[in-house]
Amino acid sequence: MRKIIDINNQWYFRLQYEEGLELVNDLEGFEIVHLPHTNVELPYSYFDEKVYQRVSCYKYPLSIPEQYKGKLLYIHFEGVMTYARVYLNGSFLGEHKGGYTPFDIRIDEEYNWQADNNILTVAADASERSDIPPFGGQIDYLTYGGIYREVSLKVLDSVFIENIKVEADNILGESKDVKLKVYLKNISGEKGNADFSVSINEKGGSEVYKGSFTTNLSKEQESYSFHIKGLKDIKLWDIDSPNLYEVKISLNINTQADEYTETFGFRKAEFTPEGFYLNGRKIKLIGLNRHQSFPYVGYAMPKRVQEKDAEILKKDLHLNIVRTSHYPQSKHFLNKCDELGLLVFEEIPGWQHIGNEDWKQVALENVREMVTRDWNHPSIVIWGVRINESQDDDELYTATNKTAHDLDSTRQTGGVRFITNSNLLEDVYTFNDFIHDGVYQPLRQQQEVTGLEHKVPYIVTEYNGHMYPTKRFDQEERQMEHSLRHLRVQNASHMDDNISGAIGWCAFDYNTHKDFGAGDRICYHGVMDMFRLHKFAAYAYKSQVSPEIEPVLQPVTFWARGERSIGGIIPLVVFTNCDYIEFQYGNKAVKKIYPCKEEYKGIPYPPIIIDYSVIKPEEAGTWGMVWEDVTITGYYKEQPIIEKKLPKDPVPAQLYVEADDTLLQAAQKDATRIVVKLMDQYGNILPFIDEIIKIQVNGPARLQGPKEVVLKGGAIAFWVETIIKAGELDITVKSQSLGEKTVKINVV
Ligand code: GAL
Repeated sequence: MRKIIDINNQWYFRLQYEEGLELVNDLEGFEIVHLPHTNVELPYSYFDEKVYQRVSCYKYPLSIPEQYKGKLLYIHFEGVMTYARVYLNGSFLGEHKGGYTPFDIRIDEEYNWQADNNILTVAADASERSDIPPFGGQIDYLTYGGIYREVSLKVLDSVFIENIKVEADNILGESKDVKLKVYLKNISGEKGNADFSVSINEKGGSEVYKGSFTTNLSKEQESYSFHIKGLKDIKLWDIDSPNLYEVKISLNINTQADEYTETFGFRKAEFTPEGFYLNGRKIKLIGLNRHQSFPYVGYAMPKRVQEKDAEILKKDLHLNIVRTSHYPQSKHFLNKCDELGLLVFEEIPGWQHIGNEDWKQVALENVREMVTRDWNHPSIVIWGVRINESQDDDELYTATNKTAHDLDSTRQTGGVRFITNSNLLEDVYTFNDFIHDGVYQPLRQQQEVTGLEHKVPYIVTEYNGHMYPTKRFDQEERQMEHSLRHLRVQNASHMDDNISGAIGWCAFDYNTHKDFGAGDRICYHGVMDMFRLHKFAAYAYKSQVSPEIEPVLQPVTFWARGERSIGGIIPLVVFTNCDYIEFQYGNKAVKKIYPCKEEYKGIPYPPIIIDYSVIKPEEAGTWGMVWEDVTITGYYKEQPIIEKKLPKDPVPAQLYVEADDTLLQAAQKDATRIVVKLMDQYGNILPFIDEIIKIQVNGPARLQGPKEVVLKGGAIAFWVETIIKAGELDITVKSQSLGEKTVKINVV
């Protein structure tokens, strides 16, 4: 029977690996670290991205219980950036190219049961090796370094289940089927009858199937298929009700046994020339691209923080799709997408550049690793099998496409291009459409892009981004244009039935190479900043949800007389899902104002745009007149449901310090974000206050990043990570103008 043992705590780390270090058993001089780990903690901005591009050394003294003698032992790595060499007691056991996919290294043949400790060594090469995607050219993001995802020890019998593929079938029929493919490894060449017992239950709920199969085992046969038919009362997985099921397979052959559990869902996803259908229902896809990076620690964030990103995208911004640009992302993120009903476009690592034959082999292997790791996620609806924005390479992409289809016939493929008239080898033409420059058309017509005489399944995978980089603390006119560009493209996508949807560039700002970004190593392309704090553009998305789910009302303004050119706040864009708003300026008469349905015919909730036809210059106050408070009230079904007040005379009135979570775990590295805002009398961020903030962490946790920071645009956030100790955490944030505040977190 399998046993999976996490080995994430107490690794021994040295920033620089030197040849021969794998032979060293003395751990003196190594730093103790916990995984996920980044090899170099970086400044927020303006750093030399070469600092982490080196080979680092990780060691782990393995001491495996005697009872596992005779078993197969594998070390399972979820992700090591970018090339890993693995040794046990100085002997080389295996390597892996590519930082975004998992790999297993077998160690039992080298394991010395007499020794107290067997030293596992990982040389983790974070240099941008031109033989591994995405490297070889320039890329617009950083890939960081280290063992940045989890590691475990797998203890297995000599016949074991390597993987399973669960294919829901007859999904829209009254009773549903499941095709199960069990991938076995029969290391010892065991012969005879293998018994498989299979149970399926609703996740956290009751059993819907139980059965068993017996089949003759052979050493050569890699997989065994079982067809389960006629399942009744099955709930579909959908974006609104993401019902999940769990399949459990037990294997018994002679004295060998194994057990494997996997989560899946019943759903039918289809891109057609007329749009995207989920379970037969047409859905306009509205989403953003996500880079998996964070300030200071790069990619090395634990489970909770990965999950939080999915929550932000689905629960806060109300998106229905995310693209994991430009690589397979953390399993925790994907699991959360399954749980929340957030659709996923997942793709292989790469960016514009295609390398030589060896490089292409790694890309092909990346397809295999991505598909076999993730094929049971109901949230994933398409595989991206091209290097993002590369030129056509029919030979390579015929192969990547075939690999994906051979492994998984249930999902369509795409491959993200920025070239028009590219050969469509996949099922869906997936295109980065950067046509919108604020003036001309928001999106191209699909046939203008594909050059084909007929319509094909088509989705826009990027827009905006570098076309209009915008900081959270940029001038409000720029932020207005930034938000409206996002909205105009979404509106155009919603109005074109031949476009399945549009996924904007991008969710969060991200650190990048010197060749991109604003010179400070940041691409300000997000609708949120690196701390996941909203720019106004986030509300263009957030407001596209029924007020029954969440009322939204966000005027795109800092509410000041002189922030904009010439002064005033007109035109004032208000992102809202209310039927109308009431606008009260000072003690002037209340104005009732409706959404711009004429201009925004496509999106579900057009913004309200207040111009001089609604409010006369003398009513809104021109330059030289007295400036007043405003109160905006949103109405739904004739009831006031949300209100926003903006003061004429903002001053620091409230220090907001809040943690995303107040309960963290001690057993493994865990982390949470603490958000700090300086707010005015009505709870709005003071957008230009650049105070120094001092952070103090008392208790069993470590602060990621510096202890002293400056508010950026009136707000900032930071993460604290646990250090494998339980206890109470006091996190004190000291401001200059409003004293200090402490949040308490329990680590158990
Ligand atoms: C695209 C690219 C993205 C990002 C974006 C910026 O060309 O695929 O990774 O660089 O541009 O707008």
